[in-house]
Amino acid sequence: MEIIPLDSKRINAEGPLSNFQQSQNIPSLKFMDTIGILGAGAMGSGIAQVAAAAGHNVVICDNLIIALTKATRNVQATLKTLVDKGKMTDADSYALFSRLKFTDHMSEFRDCSIVIEAIVEDIEQKQIAFRSMEAIVDKSTILASNTSSLSISAMGAPLKHPERILGVHFFNPAPLMRLVEIIPGLQTDPDVVERGKKLIDGWGKTTVVAKDTPGFIVNRVARPYYGEALRIFDEGIADEPTIDWAMRELCGFRMGPFELMDFIGNDINYAVTEVVFSNFFFDPRYKPSFTQKRLVEAHYFGRKSGRGFYDYRNGAALPEPTRDEALGREIATRILAMLINEAADAFYLRVASRDDIELAMTQGVNYPKGLLSWADEIGIQSIVEKLDSLYVEYLEDRYRCSPLLRKMNRDGKRFFN
Ligand SMILES: NC(=O)c1ccc[n+]([C@@H]2O[C@H](COP(=O)([O-])OP(=O)(O)OC[C@H]3O[C@@H](n4cnc5c(N)ncnc54)[C@H](O)[C@@H]3O)[C@@H](O)[C@H]2O)c1
Repeated sequence: MEIIPLDSKRINAEGPLSNFQQSQNIPSLKFMDTIGILGAGAMGSGIAQVAAAAGHNVVICDNLIIALTKATRNVQATLKTLVDKGKMTDADSYALFSRLKFTDHMSEFRDCSIVIEAIVEDIEQKQIAFRSMEAIVDKSTILASNTSSLSISAMGAPLKHPERILGVHFFNPAPLMRLVEIIPGLQTDPDVVERGKKLIDGWGKTTVVAKDTPGFIVNRVARPYYGEALRIFDEGIADEPTIDWAMRELCGFRMGPFELMDFIGNDINYAVTEVVFSNFFFDPRYKPSFTQKRLVEAHYFGRKSGRGFYDYRNGAALPEPTRDEALGREIATRILAMLINEAADAFYLRVASRDDIELAMTQGVNYPKGLLSWADEIGIQSIVEKLDSLYVEYLEDRYRCSPLLRKMNRDGKRFFN
């Protein structure tokens, strides 16, 4: 099925595409112009829109006609909103839309320089899809996955040319979120990483490189924001509005953990926690909470279902926090120490560079500060002391301090000078 014909006259040789081409070892424009997207769901259609906005022709393939119809309507509606708000001209909106081709034939990927897979989060289905694509595309075509939790190396394993596999993790909604995590698999050729990174940088995104480990950077480092808040709540130390208030008012986060879980959807947030927990061989640091599990089981998904940690039905009033400054500081220090510990450990275990960890957390999830510079500001010693006091109190491995923080404290070091 082909809903929208591709206007081949609209190939754009200006802007990001030509910048990209100027870099070394990059194939010619002729070869770099068409982007393939597999899966026309929330992420696939968002990424397609980003690539088309950067001037590429984009082929979007889905095996469900209804998904293609829905994606077409969604993109049209988004473009109309942009035009109505004066953020885009009618002509630009038409030009962007005409660069999109919706199809249910994977064979349309044959001229694509990169195909970004955004289908269901299932390793077997992704492996099958990549094998099928490999039979269609050129041998230098990058095969990329938007997975948020699966192993890129595992996706490359069945391929004839596994050196072309790459993780490109966009955040939802892709047109608005600036961060993209780039994840090489064990087999990935460094040139593929460079080409993929330059291409996506050229789309106006901020890219960071992450090791192929569970949760990459953001979904790993952010876990304590939810997990420790849930633990504090489960222990009866404070209720949801008080914890949210503490993180907003005393730390400057845009949303408190419970508001944020309700906003993301407890089903999605819980699923990510569960995957990260099992992929880390059940490290207690990432242990999910029964409280959130029960919410999911009751379909209290959050804003989208009308109920989550809070009640959103018929404009129900949100409960007031206990504005107790001492309690707020205790909550904020505990959650922040756990976040900093996770960021420090990610750096220690070479998941990403110090700068990329900072960028990922400020741009991917809008943290008010990078966690490592925040650690410098607070003082490494007080973070270590906080973590050690939690460890002594609970005797749980969950509260173990990163060896890096302990060593830095001993040597009087900081993350940044
Ligand atoms: N939704 C998010 O917040 C988010 C954020 C980052 C990454 N991701 C990842 O992006 C991917 C897609 O997520 P989504 O939320 O867009 O999912 P979605 O369910 O909205 O869309 C998936 C689409 O893929 C199609 N599809 C499934 N199998 C296919 C196949 N074999 N061939 C062609 N099409 C197929 C489905 O018909 C559907 O339209 C997943 O790997 C997910 O983990 C999601």
